[in-house]
Amino acid sequence: MNGALRLTVLGAGYLGITHAACMASLGFGVLGVDTDGSKVGKLNAGRLPIYEPGLAELLRAGLGAGRLRFTTSYAEAAAFGDVHFICTGTPQQAGSDRADTSQVDACVATLAPLLRRPCLVVGKSTVPVGTARRLAAGLGHACPGAELAWNPEFLREGTAVADTLSPDRIVAGVTSGRAEAILRQVYARPVAGGTPFIVTSLETAELSKAAANAFLATKISFINAMAEVCEVAGGDVRALARILGADPRIGPSFLRAGLGFGGGCLPKDIRAFAARASELGAGQALAFLREVDAINLRRRVRTADLALELAGGSLAEVPVCALGAAFKPGSDDVRDSPALDVAQILTGMGARVTIHDPAALRGARRARPELAYARTLAGAARGAHVVLLLTEWPAFAALTPGDLSPLVARRNIIDARGALDPVPWQQHGWRYRALGMAEDAAAAMRAATG
Ligand code: UGA
Repeated sequence: MNGALRLTVLGAGYLGITHAACMASLGFGVLGVDTDGSKVGKLNAGRLPIYEPGLAELLRAGLGAGRLRFTTSYAEAAAFGDVHFICTGTPQQAGSDRADTSQVDACVATLAPLLRRPCLVVGKSTVPVGTARRLAAGLGHACPGAELAWNPEFLREGTAVADTLSPDRIVAGVTSGRAEAILRQVYARPVAGGTPFIVTSLETAELSKAAANAFLATKISFINAMAEVCEVAGGDVRALARILGADPRIGPSFLRAGLGFGGGCLPKDIRAFAARASELGAGQALAFLREVDAINLRRRVRTADLALELAGGSLAEVPVCALGAAFKPGSDDVRDSPALDVAQILTGMGARVTIHDPAALRGARRARPELAYARTLAGAARGAHVVLLLTEWPAFAALTPGDLSPLVARRNIIDARGALDPVPWQQHGWRYRALGMAEDAAAAMRAATG
């Protein structure tokens, strides 16, 4: 059945590559399209331009089976596809909170005049509500047999393959039974496996993605707001999160307090959502998202202030070790990375910061060439007066005082992701500071455990 339906995936970014490789693994013939010829060449040679567990294997399996290939030609895509998935990026507009939909617009504008037969164009990119209705009008005008649907993607970096093959839900924003039937055919496998298939309007489909990311960001900022209160009131946000998370109405996920959210999605999506609501006259309804953003960004400044405190009031020429560059563990993505922002703030305060990350050094060097990097953890930690754990990679979370004590010049550590147990560090003479925990609360933990 799958062999009968041919798919194109427009845009070979994170989402596009994952979607293309996963759909090929489900048995569809897939043509990936990107205007970047060198990226297309690499993908056709089986080389991934991103770090994502399990994806390279799927890419190579699809290429090897002849079910997957990449091209720069939209004409080829128009002739090939029964279903065209739009997977281009929607970054934040320069100088504004709004989303830049120019890549999505260009994708449809290029494809539409080339379409010669009935097909379904399916948007997966995260767009401001109203975009799909606007694109549908233009598409129907250019090619009467072409129809538009919106099918947002909820995958997370680091678990993108599993999230695509077994999603929590599939949202089908459609305007006809025919579009719904085609999407049901595309997603027959996960739906048979129990994934809910929710049929809705184009607008609700667009909103569902923005609302989901807004909720996740709000949950993180909520616990980080509690962290701020814990810091001044002598509480411990980790224990607080455990207590809150035990209530099934709240749930434990996305309650990890710390340096907050970054990446190519949550920060720009909450800004774009609030900006779009304002355009529509509902700005007040999402005004709280500005506060969610502000709480999140404050954590970066607070982390730098803790380093200043541990350095004794001045960071001028102080050697600092920053562990982490990626916006989260399991990813090499440094877009809006809280870790890199902290390194930048500390550098601005005069510190000599050296950054180590197990996967994101190349991207970090490209994004912030002015910062200093070390290929090994020891290289970053040697001689440091302050160590900061900024991205909770398993290798960093497993660090013990025995690993770092022989390397550093002074025993000061900031656990900005709440990944370490304070007690052994304090027992080995380290000053341990964490977000969401006053210094005396950490000392009290030590006293309580003897
Ligand atoms: C996020 C959403 O989780 C996906 O559902 C969505 O599809 C995706 O954005 C997108 O719009 O494409 P992702 O950006 O890959 O996925 O990363 P998350 O796992 O959501 O983490 C986002 C940030 O929040 C990271 O910086 C992480 O360190 C931080 N975080 C997460 C916390 O600070 N605390 C938590 O409890 C959880």
